[in-house]
Amino acid sequence: MRKFFIIGHRGACYYEPENTLRSFKKALQLKANCIECDVRLTKDNKVIVIHDKTLDRTTNGTGLVENFTLKELKRIDAGKKEKIPTLQGYINLIKNKAIMCIELKKCKNIVKETLKIINKNKIYDKVILLSFYVSYLRKIKKLNPKIKTGFLTFRLILAIKRAKFCKAELIGIYHKFISKEFIDNCHKNNLKVFAYVGVKENPNENYLKKLINLGLDGIALNRPTL
Ligand code: G3P
Ligand code: CA
Repeated sequence: MRKFFIIGHRGACYYEPENTLRSFKKALQLKANCIECDVRLTKDNKVIVIHDKTLDRTTNGTGLVENFTLKELKRIDAGKKEKIPTLQGYINLIKNKAIMCIELKKCKNIVKETLKIINKNKIYDKVILLSFYVSYLRKIKKLNPKIKTGFLTFRLILAIKRAKFCKAELIGIYHKFISKEFIDNCHKNNLKVFAYVGVKENPNENYLKKLINLGLDGIALNRPTL
């Protein structure tokens, strides 16, 4: 039987504050076998787990993440009194329990600093680095071809060509654009495919079943249960 990935999107962000250890623990409890997070850099070049460029939407802080040191950010509440996690904190929690899908957001030096942490932890076979940015994915493969990568995209056009150019192993695509033809094409090109939903979208079981039966290899959900 093929291995199917139930990916906890930002943990289990339907239930808990997104991208917090509390959210990741909930996703593990729900039996997600892969946990997604988003990473950015602090002012002092520490890799932390947060989705947006600014603190405003997900924390009680305000302003650009890159303007604060880790020490300053640790004083902020990311929801239900959770701290903004470091990438190392996320790895410590998940590394023996699920595959780690780490999405690199647009941020100077994010590739270099993330790879330092992956190398230090020697978790090459447990991690997939995701990004919407072709240049980041190409750089990752150049620096360490052992690390698996996934090309993220909103659109079908040129998706396979771009993923191949990055030497990515998989494509993550917005669920509404998935078709059987696209999945078959990815598989012919030796690419796995997962679908992701928007942070406010929680499709029903019937819809998800239909989607999965098209031949997907995984799905990133805010409620990672099936
Ligand atoms: O896994 C892909 C997905 O997380 C990309 O979108 O905005 O939720 O980071 P976003
Ligand atoms: Ca993400």
